[in-house]
Amino acid sequence: MSPRLRHLTTLENLPRATIERLLDRAESLRDACAHGTRKLDVLAGRTVLNLFFEPSTRTRTSFELAARRLGADVVNFDIGFSSTSKGEELFDTLHTLEAMHLDAIVVRHKQSGTPDELVRHAMSGVSVINAGDGNRAHPTQGLLDVLTIRQHRPDFENLSVVICGDIRHSRVARSDIQALTALGAGQIRLCGPAALMPASDEFPHCVRYDDFDKAIAGVDAVITLRLQKERMASTDLPDEAAYFTHFGLDPRRLGLAAKGCLVMHPGPINRGIEIASAVADGAQSRILEQVGNGVFVRMAVLNEVLAR
Ligand code: NCD
Repeated sequence: MSPRLRHLTTLENLPRATIERLLDRAESLRDACAHGTRKLDVLAGRTVLNLFFEPSTRTRTSFELAARRLGADVVNFDIGFSSTSKGEELFDTLHTLEAMHLDAIVVRHKQSGTPDELVRHAMSGVSVINAGDGNRAHPTQGLLDVLTIRQHRPDFENLSVVICGDIRHSRVARSDIQALTALGAGQIRLCGPAALMPASDEFPHCVRYDDFDKAIAGVDAVITLRLQKERMASTDLPDEAAYFTHFGLDPRRLGLAAKGCLVMHPGPINRGIEIASAVADGAQSRILEQVGNGVFVRMAVLNEVLAR
């Protein structure tokens, strides 16, 4: 059996068996908590801190729900009302919070590598879970995305997936590619304007496209991404109308994919920019299933790092 994780900061180099264990556990916890209607007590007496230095709707809420459904206590650290806004150093904040006794810190930060820095500086036995750092990793999103795919298309060997949009600035894309690769996905295609594609030596095993019509042809799943303007140089910012024409997912393009192709997006979606409303709200959309799976995946991760 692959060893139990103490922290989860990235999916990079995680063995397939560990990823599968987390996905299996997400589904067994989903059943045990009767889809969220029954509270469990496996983490009773444990305290989870949500430490979010960047805005979040889904991720923060679903970590909070996940911790509560396992019986843990949750503290939300609101950056706007904290001493960090008075210039307190990150590690002083960490040690101050640790002195109050915590079991896990769920962290989101604009700087890539912050979760690993916290692992290195944490004094006590606190576990660190990455909820998104810069453009580097968003491991629980990667897990919930492959869980959503697995529920519809369990045969990863014969699976082809296209990720389209602002891949360069996307921590979601990086974690998705790592998870899909670990699970042996047959083909991973990447598509976007040149300025928003990852460096040419990153992900050499993925097939690159600049034409979305060609990239989507015959795929089983399409993952669209938001333009992450907050991480973009102003010169890279595409004209939004032109962007939709070339890289927007509309019903005509979806018709080029395999029958029943899964439509996915990590959210927040920008309708009419990377995805048309008719597709986001259409019969093939799995976007809200992704959100639902997010809670169960985060329960599995909290259980993994905190269970005694
Ligand atoms: C993503 C993120 O913050 O990385 N959102 C999310 O967690 N579901 C993607 C994004 O912001 O575009």
